[in-house]
Amino acid sequence: MTTATTGRTAPAGAVGTARTRVEGRAKVTGAARYAGEIPFADLAHGWLVLSTITRGRVRAVETEAVLAMPGVLAVLHHGNAPRVETDYVGMLGAPDPTAAVFQHDRVPHAGWPVALVVAETPEQAREAAESLVVRYEEEPHDIALSADRPDAYPVDGHMPAVTEKGDLEAELDAAAHVVDVEYSTPEEHHSMMEPHAATAHWDGGRLEVVDSNQGTTWVQNELAQMFSLDMSAVRVRSEHIGGGFGSKGLRVHQVSAAMAATALQRPVRVVLTRRQMFSLTGYRSPTRQRVRLGADADGRLRALEHRSVNQTSTVYEFVEPSAGVARVMYDAAAHRTVNQVIRLDVPSPTWMRAPGEAPGSFALEAALDELAERCGLDPIELRLRNEPETGPVSGLPFSSRNLAACFREGARRFGWADRDPRPGVRREGRWLLGTGTAAASFGAGALPSTALVTAEPDGTFTVRIAAADVGTGARTALTLVAADALETTTDRVRVHIGDSDFGPAGVAGGSMGTRSWAWAVNAAAAELRERLALGTGIPPEGITVRSDTTEALQSLAQKERHSFGAQFAEVAVDTGTGEIRVRRMLGIFAAGRIVNPLTARNQLLGGMAWGISMALHEEAVRDPSTGAHYAPDLAGYHVATHADVPRLEADWVDDPDPDDPVGIKGIGEIGVVGAAAAIANAVWHATGVRHRRLPIRPDRVLEAGRDV
Ligand code: MOS
Repeated sequence: MTTATTGRTAPAGAVGTARTRVEGRAKVTGAARYAGEIPFADLAHGWLVLSTITRGRVRAVETEAVLAMPGVLAVLHHGNAPRVETDYVGMLGAPDPTAAVFQHDRVPHAGWPVALVVAETPEQAREAAESLVVRYEEEPHDIALSADRPDAYPVDGHMPAVTEKGDLEAELDAAAHVVDVEYSTPEEHHSMMEPHAATAHWDGGRLEVVDSNQGTTWVQNELAQMFSLDMSAVRVRSEHIGGGFGSKGLRVHQVSAAMAATALQRPVRVVLTRRQMFSLTGYRSPTRQRVRLGADADGRLRALEHRSVNQTSTVYEFVEPSAGVARVMYDAAAHRTVNQVIRLDVPSPTWMRAPGEAPGSFALEAALDELAERCGLDPIELRLRNEPETGPVSGLPFSSRNLAACFREGARRFGWADRDPRPGVRREGRWLLGTGTAAASFGAGALPSTALVTAEPDGTFTVRIAAADVGTGARTALTLVAADALETTTDRVRVHIGDSDFGPAGVAGGSMGTRSWAWAVNAAAAELRERLALGTGIPPEGITVRSDTTEALQSLAQKERHSFGAQFAEVAVDTGTGEIRVRRMLGIFAAGRIVNPLTARNQLLGGMAWGISMALHEEAVRDPSTGAHYAPDLAGYHVATHADVPRLEADWVDDPDPDDPVGIKGIGEIGVVGAAAAIANAVWHATGVRHRRLPIRPDRVLEAGRDV
């Protein structure tokens, strides 16, 4: 494969070839152990007790009866737990103080951790925890999110809250076609397969934590600051991870386990239940969004406004920056984007796969579809007419923007050219059929990382990096990258990850994991290869080269850096029952050089399946009277399962990042972006009804049907 964009020729090596996971056999045989099942001698088990009220204070924790129960060793609560530091800045900004358990008597939301019962066995801990009597002073709560609350306020988060140029009202007035629509997305939960679990113990003056997380350096750094320890006095390991999706950072389980291990001076394990995860490990905030578009008769945008409001807790300010996607996708003479939050008596939301882009692309890309209908234009043609030359808000050049290529290839393979644009006219028995499309984008960033690469005397190589393979295949991807950089074969390369002792590395987040670590591995391996070329012998301890990409990343030119994609969906809708079946989906992506097509395809398809789930199923509902969830489990919270997911196809166009040494951009999140909009647009094409509220449940289809 030649890389036309860079003029470089990719080596005919391992990168770009489909490989099964290097740890695949260990995983399918059960040899790979997860955080909650790694054996420890003398292990004690902690079980969290969560508040049964939504707002108020803890008056009393009646520990006496519970301490007399079989096997019970301790009950930690705000009255006796060690004080920890919460005023610090972690690797990803100010921490959510939810993780700093038992520091005060206030209860800011339902399911707030109020105690940890520690016992000899998990069963004893659970029984005692469920028997623990906690008395509260209850206060009225407020969990009502709405778009028009006066207490909504703009929050910057990782990007400015507000961007603005031009005279929006004037451009809307002058527009030939105007779309002014509101969208809503519900509270969604990460729902990874493996629940959060950690074991903490003290080993020769070091706090050791065996965990399931998206970055051992991240968790090490936060634990060190929270417990006022030197970084070197904390070691975090996380070898195999059953999914994270943004939820696996520093959370209550590591902190409460560390507190208990300190109090008892023995290893303590804390595993969360699925129900506990619904209130303790973050979620995607519901959003209320408004999009206003004004276009000329030929579909060129004159005005674009995208406003979003999300909820956050009273203890932490988290913004779901849904309006951010409009800053990348489309330009207009008048352009305004706003991200706001409202503080409510709810748990803190957090990053969840494509934070901002996932809900934001639903609103924006559905609104574009409505505009295409108004203009009488094909939705793809409308988007192509509005391809910006430079970043609409930043004014910066794009490092590469191959969205048009994605649409062309996607349209060809999906059979878009034959599409009759009229809605509600295709019937197959009781089913109405429709197709829809949407654009996708996600930022392509990189985080500073260090890697160690060792040439062993036996001619093999060992790579050590504090990377996290959350299920993406990162470990395998790094094996391919190392093999190519060392000009050797993959069977001579061993990659060890998930250990903070390997030195600082970026997180598996923001679609930056593999890209950041590959950069560091590539740098160390390339330098090692040069050293070996000098022909000096290899001593018994091997030759080790350490890389650090901090400086290299700083020299990256200022550009808009994103992956792009085009999503296509075909749906069948039964307006008699309200049932929607997705029949097929196709996603074509321009997402940098693809290191391992096998796991990359899997990653993109997983994102698209999330899109089905987001469009049709997922919705966590709170009871206004109690402030707590209805049915917080995987029976009550429906994620798409095999029967919901038809044949999906994901593929890509050639799009190597011109400034990345391996050409990588990152593929973790873009698969979900635009997927729900493509499905919602297809539902409109099938039925003629616009559904602007996710998920598009059967009752909503039936309800909407009445108005037609
Ligand atoms: Mo992802 S939300 O960046 O873990």
